[in-house]
Amino acid sequence: MSKQTAHTHGDPCFDGRMARFGGDLHAALTALYGKRTDFADWHQRLIDLVWRAYDARPQHLKALDEARAAADTPWYQDAKMLGYMCYPDRFAGDFGGVKQKIPYLQELGVTYLHLLSVLKARKGDSDGGFAIADYLSTNDNLGSIDDLEGLISDLRDAGISLCLDFVFNHTAREHEWAQRAIAGEKAFQDFYFMYPDRTVPDQVEPLLDEVFPQTAPGNFTYVEDAEKWVWTTFYPYQWDLNYHNPAVLLAMLDNLFQLANRGVEIFRLDAAIYVWKQLGTHCRNLPETHVLIQLFRAAVSIVAPGVALKAEAMAGARHITKYFGHADQAGKECQLAYHNAAMAALWDSLATGSAKPAYDMLSALPEKPEGTSWVYYARCHDDIGWAALRDTKGAEWGASDEHLNWLWRFYAGEVDGSFARGRRFQPVPGEAFAGSNGTLASLAGLEAALEAGDDIALDLAVRRILLLHAVPMALDGIPLIYMGDELALLNDYGHADSPAHQDGRWLHRPVMPDGLEGFTPVHQSAYARVRAGLRSLIKARKHLPLLGAMNSSRYLDAGNDHVLAFVRPAKDEVMLCLANFSASEQSVDAGVIEEVLGAGARDISPLNGICGRRLNELGPYQCRWILGEKTE
Ligand code: GLC
Repeated sequence: MSKQTAHTHGDPCFDGRMARFGGDLHAALTALYGKRTDFADWHQRLIDLVWRAYDARPQHLKALDEARAAADTPWYQDAKMLGYMCYPDRFAGDFGGVKQKIPYLQELGVTYLHLLSVLKARKGDSDGGFAIADYLSTNDNLGSIDDLEGLISDLRDAGISLCLDFVFNHTAREHEWAQRAIAGEKAFQDFYFMYPDRTVPDQVEPLLDEVFPQTAPGNFTYVEDAEKWVWTTFYPYQWDLNYHNPAVLLAMLDNLFQLANRGVEIFRLDAAIYVWKQLGTHCRNLPETHVLIQLFRAAVSIVAPGVALKAEAMAGARHITKYFGHADQAGKECQLAYHNAAMAALWDSLATGSAKPAYDMLSALPEKPEGTSWVYYARCHDDIGWAALRDTKGAEWGASDEHLNWLWRFYAGEVDGSFARGRRFQPVPGEAFAGSNGTLASLAGLEAALEAGDDIALDLAVRRILLLHAVPMALDGIPLIYMGDELALLNDYGHADSPAHQDGRWLHRPVMPDGLEGFTPVHQSAYARVRAGLRSLIKARKHLPLLGAMNSSRYLDAGNDHVLAFVRPAKDEVMLCLANFSASEQSVDAGVIEEVLGAGARDISPLNGICGRRLNELGPYQCRWILGEKTE
């Protein structure tokens, strides 16, 4: 394809999309780089890149794009959506092993699979695969990129979309760009933030986050080979990319398109909040970060509209909705976003037995824009970051540092009466709290109950685990299951035996067992209950189209602080979810149910085994789903 100067391609589909999204693309590029004298040249290069990527997109993926674009509602908003995330090596060995596990995923109901640590990472410690040395090849132990492409196609045939991490804030020091920067090539030194001495780092450092204060203190690393200080927000081997340089933007977009054209359907925009740096600021959630994501989205809308972007924005609650785009850009950034604030709030509610932390925050958050979906989860490969609950500027809710310190100690099992067996993660010196590590089952009390041989505690732990599955299943987004949580796996205390697994988050990254042979009989019975409950929840959700993410959840004050109440409205029907976060029986005023659902309300709780008697009564940690007619 020869270089085109006019922005029409002659392909009606491409030209149509260009007419629709080319303006957004141009506006974002102008906002970021418009002051450059060579702006027109960069604009042309961007158009050429977008054009080439579209041209190279295989026909079957173009067909998928068209089918998705023609659908009434976005594919990722469907109630049938269910996510699962895992490390392929820990889940099934390699890509071939994952392929063999497709029936397992199908049986669970999975429709999107997030594989962690796939793209070629640096050797040795790689922050769990988040230090990428080459975006266009895969880790040797898993198989080749062609094998990955084959797996993607098998997954798609089985109705499962593949999601990969797009680690776009930084590359590994071993990436060719960084290596060439070390070798002294100016063009590649400009891909990163490199300083001859500590003058700039010393000015900026006090304003910045410390992400791993214990294992990677500071945000700058001295690189002897280059005789320069390099910006490294995460580990010293993760070099932050410099998006002030449009060459970086184009190179990363090119990587994204090449992966999309291999069939990746969801890209998780890793560490999105840090992506744009501005000296003199705290370099988090900056307006330019949003513009950059708008640019990625516009480009994806032109090349591969069947692809979705998912924000991993570990920010305070008031920030995360903005990663869908806000104000006049609403709906123009990521289609999906992790709801990390809801996740942390649910754990807060579980520890305190009060639904208030979750209610106060969720009811105060702005609605997600049309055409978007949250991703709700109880656990993932990272720690539970409590800071999401502290960011309360302008909000009427929020947790004090004292309370967050209590939660932090609670989930490390250090508070009297705590059911949890987790560990604290990486506090900044002088800070009252940081994150908590541990598997869902260990944090929810199963490990302690098994150790104590206490049947009552075991029953409560299973109920807590199911509650943290049941609430996300009913909310306005895609529920995401983290590998092993479906088996109620416990913490992996042996993780530090491996030099590459020193980081405390490996506590909750256990290897999937082949079967349950190693489990004690009691653990097996707990697992059987979790499994049965989870299957019922998934099955029920898939049969309730109103649980799709088209309509936002509406939160109600149920008049009982232990009970989180929210409504999922559809055209004619409404579902009310009542979730009891306490270990004792609770009830809500029957009038609340009647007001929302009319007189004919009926219980459709998938977890009937643990139900109270009347509709308004809830057993310990019970989550009730009630369906009725729309009364408003
Ligand atoms: C994301 C990942 C986390 C990683 C970090 C740096 O937050 O989830 O595991 O450490 O990015 O890439």
